[in-house]
Amino acid sequence: MKPTIPYQPLLLRLLHGLTGLCLVLAILTAFWTYNTYDGRWGTVSWLPTYKAIEGIHGTFGLYTLLIFPGFVLYAFNRGKHRLAQPQALTKLTHQVGQPVWWYTLSRFVNTLTLVALTFALFSGKMMDEKWLPNGELEHFWYYGHLVSWGVMVVAIALHLLMNAKVGGAPFLLSMFTWKFRAQDSPRLWKNHIAAWWSNLQPGTWSNWPALLTTRPKLEVAIWISLIAAWLISLFKELG
Ligand code: HEM
Ligand code: HEM
Repeated sequence: MKPTIPYQPLLLRLLHGLTGLCLVLAILTAFWTYNTYDGRWGTVSWLPTYKAIEGIHGTFGLYTLLIFPGFVLYAFNRGKHRLAQPQALTKLTHQVGQPVWWYTLSRFVNTLTLVALTFALFSGKMMDEKWLPNGELEHFWYYGHLVSWGVMVVAIALHLLMNAKVGGAPFLLSMFTWKFRAQDSPRLWKNHIAAWWSNLQPGTWSNWPALLTTRPKLEVAIWISLIAAWLISLFKELG
């Protein structure tokens, strides 16, 4: 039998790829920033001291923060089957080591990456760009932001391991191809959006408290964290 090549929806590939790319750049520049200004847990000596890296990191962090809401919308709507399912915990205690167990675990890790990234973005927004140049390395949110880096790296490593286990290299690579099926063509997106818009019941948004109760709790928590991150940092700048 010819092995089938896994297919990923184009919108997923775009949002996942953009988020992932900006995030990886934020992670690398974060390490360089740590190497330049901190280094308490070890340094990489060949990496030059480069003061401007802090601002570059802030920029990639900000790009990630701007794209992430699109990915969250996708993941909790069209992509919801690839996130942890409500009965999943009981599944994890059964059929250990069976293929279905690995799928369940990989969906948990997908969800974990979203939580880890929310924390990294929130703690990033709580940072002050003057702390490190002033040598202030003891701030609560600086430690929080450092921890978020470690959590994020572990989450991505697990994500890659899980996907490698579930589908091997073809599955990993299926996230990085440009080909798409006719029904996935961006030409159709205008129609999809129009159909979605006309399907919205009048009053859906005005009744947002009810909308909140119908959405997964985790999704609501992520939206609240993202909005709070922007509002708190805005108030700090104004205050
Ligand atoms: C850099 C290399 C990466 C590769 C090769 C990769 C690969 C994949 C693959 C193959 C899937 C489909 C999994 C499935 O069907 O269950 C997936 C889904 C997912 N990935 Fe990644 N990924 C990468 C990076 C990231 C990063 C950095 C994040 C951080 C946010 C991330 C978050 C997710 C999430 C949340 C899903 C589920 C999406 C949905 O709900 O449809 N991935 N990834
Ligand atoms: C997964 C890892 C990380 C992500 C996703 C991330 C993301 C972010 C985000 C979103 C901001 C706010 C940018 C803005 O609003 O302008 C930020 C700021 C900042 N981050 Fe990170 N960060 C990570 C790790 C780190 C680490 C390990 C350090 C340690 C040196 C660090 C240092 C900073 C500093 C100093 C700022 C303030 C600078 C500025 O806003 O220009 N970050 N980060």
